[in-house]
Amino acid sequence: MQVAIDGPAGSGKSSVCKIIAEKYGFTYIDTGAMYRSVAWVSVHFGEDNLVEKISNIDFILEENGKKISIKYDGKIYDLTKEIRTPEISSKVALVASNGEIRKILVKKQQEFAKSGDVIMEGRDITTVVLPYADIKIFLTASPEERAKRRFKEWQSEENKQEYEKVLSEIKKRDEIDSTRKESPLMQAKDAILLDTTGLTLEQVADKIGEMIAEKKEKSKK
Ligand code: DC
Repeated sequence: MQVAIDGPAGSGKSSVCKIIAEKYGFTYIDTGAMYRSVAWVSVHFGEDNLVEKISNIDFILEENGKKISIKYDGKIYDLTKEIRTPEISSKVALVASNGEIRKILVKKQQEFAKSGDVIMEGRDITTVVLPYADIKIFLTASPEERAKRRFKEWQSEENKQEYEKVLSEIKKRDEIDSTRKESPLMQAKDAILLDTTGLTLEQVADKIGEMIAEKKEKSKK
């Protein structure tokens, strides 16, 4: 079974995917981490010939979404922590707006999706990567709620940012992600809208769990 989830930054995609993956034995594929890894490569190895560099990268997804490494030029780099810095966050939207880079990553993501039950999240999964997924969800929440969630995450990592700043960054990223020319973030016509404002993570996971159970039941008939 394929579960495809799209939604803006801070809508809870990765947290909820981790719960579902664990509970139902799905493989979790975090495509944002792949775009972030490309941004990391551009920072560390330079922006020149980036498309060629990316073609030669192997993405290694391990521990069900908890770890990401790349193999580049014969060496393995564990990027799990490196791709979560503010520097990479500010670079990644630019990288993700490059059509050539997207084409390469989409192909790799479609390959990953061939391995049994998968839950994949990003911005173009329901529209471009897995348009025929069994379950397609557009996960969202108000910008204010998303900023609060991010603020808490950063606080707990002692990387404090002020709420207003986080909120304006989220709005800026929403704007870039949903207005870019290449595969903008949008709700696919046949995707289910799931607004998580005011819901706990467990409540969201339960709702998706119900959709999976329903789909499994239907496929038995
Ligand atoms: O989900 P995230 O914040 O880790 O995503 C990082 C960036 O990558 C974000 O700016 C949107 C972009 N992205 C994308 O364009 N397409 C995807 N499938 C996943 C992420």
